Amino acid sequence: MTQGHDPVTPGAGRGAVYSPTARALHWLTVAAVFVMIPLGLAMSYRGNTLDIWDGLTDALYSTHKLLGFTMLWLSAGRLIYRLVHGAPPDEPTLEWWQKAASHLVHWALYGLLLIVPLLGWIGISLFPSLTVFNLFDLPALAAPNEEAAKRVLAVHGWLAILLAFLACGHIGAALFHYVIRKDGVLRRMLPGLK
Ligand code: HEM
Ligand code: HEM
Repeated sequence: MTQGHDPVTPGAGRGAVYSPTARALHWLTVAAVFVMIPLGLAMSYRGNTLDIWDGLTDALYSTHKLLGFTMLWLSAGRLIYRLVHGAPPDEPTLEWWQKAASHLVHWALYGLLLIVPLLGWIGISLFPSLTVFNLFDLPALAAPNEEAAKRVLAVHGWLAILLAFLACGHIGAALFHYVIRKDGVLRRMLPGLK
């Protein structure tokens, strides 16, 4: 793992923490994912399962597309920031396998945060259903092909669920460190630290 200089803010002698930028990007991502997954499930249930294709369903789809599209660029920026600036050294009390597992999960989350919205964008390009609130169209990434669109959007949905499961495991680990191990892991990412 790259060890940078800039993102490490010394934590008043209690171990290094992520930089304010890294922490802000982390919590912005968390808020967006917490909206996007229920929104995706609700709009798809309302449209595909209940077969209600009214203004509300359209608005849910448009919100999902717009927020997801924004998230793609946010995640790309976050990944570039991470690659350029690195992360603080691991919490020293972690076992080797805990370090390995957490790094694996973090990189998998970064990967999914890019692949999931990218597949959504490719899916609506293939469908095609690029309009956002009937105000403007997102740029098309592929020529229309409805069959391919259904397959791509199905993979999009499954990978979004995988992202949700990984995020749950990740949150469980953060809480485990805070409540059971009582170490400094959660503090490294808390907002509002000096
Ligand atoms: C990280 C960002 C995203 C997350 C977490 C996410 C999550 C989801 C979820 C959970 C579903 C429901 C899947 C299902 O019911 O099986 C879904 C459906 C969908 N998503 Fe996303 N999504 C993201 C980004 C995007 C983007 C950027 C677009 C397009 C620009 C998009 C377009 C769609 C569409 C069109 C569907 C409905 C598929 C259908 O009706 O079968 N998503 N998404
Ligand atoms: C959608 C939900 C979430 C996603 C996608 C996510 C993603 C990530 C990623 C990619 C990292 C790696 C940062 C890096 O090394 O550059 C990270 C670190 C971290 N996250 Fe999250 N996170 C989520 C939710 C949460 C929540 C709710 C908590 C707290 C309860 C949390 C606590 C932490 C902590 C403490 C770290 C630093 C771990 C360490 O120092 O090794 N995360 N998160």
